[in-house]
Amino acid sequence: MKVFVTRIIADFAMQQLHDAGHEVKVWTEKRNLTPQELIDHCQDADALLSVGSNKISAAFLEACSHLKVIALHSVGYDNVDVATATRLKIPVGNTPGVLSGATADTAFLLMLATSRKAFYQHKKIIRGGWKFFEPLVDVGIELTGKTLGIYGLGKIGYEMAKRCKGAYEMNIIYHNRGYNPEAEEKLGAVRVSFSELLAQSDVLSVHTALTPETEGMFNKAVFRQMKNNAIFINTARGGIHNETDLVEALQQGEIWGAGLDVTNPEPMKPDNALLEMPNVSVLPHIGSGTLETRSAMMELATQNIIAGLENRKIPYPVNPEVYSS
Ligand code: DGY
Repeated sequence: MKVFVTRIIADFAMQQLHDAGHEVKVWTEKRNLTPQELIDHCQDADALLSVGSNKISAAFLEACSHLKVIALHSVGYDNVDVATATRLKIPVGNTPGVLSGATADTAFLLMLATSRKAFYQHKKIIRGGWKFFEPLVDVGIELTGKTLGIYGLGKIGYEMAKRCKGAYEMNIIYHNRGYNPEAEEKLGAVRVSFSELLAQSDVLSVHTALTPETEGMFNKAVFRQMKNNAIFINTARGGIHNETDLVEALQQGEIWGAGLDVTNPEPMKPDNALLEMPNVSVLPHIGSGTLETRSAMMELATQNIIAGLENRKIPYPVNPEVYSS
């Protein structure tokens, strides 16, 4: 059968697909496919392996309802109209579990870099600004014993909390719909209301999915309720914070700093005001970007493709309802 892949992928994954008897067509251009190109390339495909943030919209799904499986090379699936895929009985698979450590490392990196203005200091040297020692200029803040607030304490949030507890003895609070007994028992995490999370966090790290409920939820009103010395970290999705409001909150000193691995839109424009702010660190959505993690994600994605093409239940479905009669 035929698999269309939207990026160049690792040799081992190509091999697995070939070994399973499939023909693989790869999009090799260094740009995103347009919606029409994605439809056109999937016309004669039986499966789509979507790497990157291709929009799997209702229009795409209606035009490609013949697909036997769509495998994402991501844990997040906010780019997919899952309800339409389910209605059309197309299984959609993601890559859960394997990127929690790498993404938490990125959140931790952003927290530490922001607290010491590291990205700004680096740029200062490049610009020739390292002239003489001034003990009170561009100083950072310490993290030891501070309070880490996690918005969405799932697998990635847990890994971030574990790192912060181990490195800096941080107190962990979190806001979730339900309790996280493991985090409470092992890390002493305490579940709080959203307003308590905002009022008490020295570092507030977002680890939730982008949904209609979370879209734009970190806005002006929310930043105003945070501590003036707080650092806001987002490694989840850029759509969860309102960027204009974040810039304003930083400029007005309503919060102290921000570390972002995700922006809205992506890619961020090089002239974005956030990139010039001393207390801000921005990365180009590299949360899962280690060789080990990206390989593990690809492994799960190819497992989803191969199972789907063999009419077996895919191992990591986001819409298992497609299998109920
Ligand atoms: C994910 O897997 O959702 C990461 O954000 C990469 O897109």
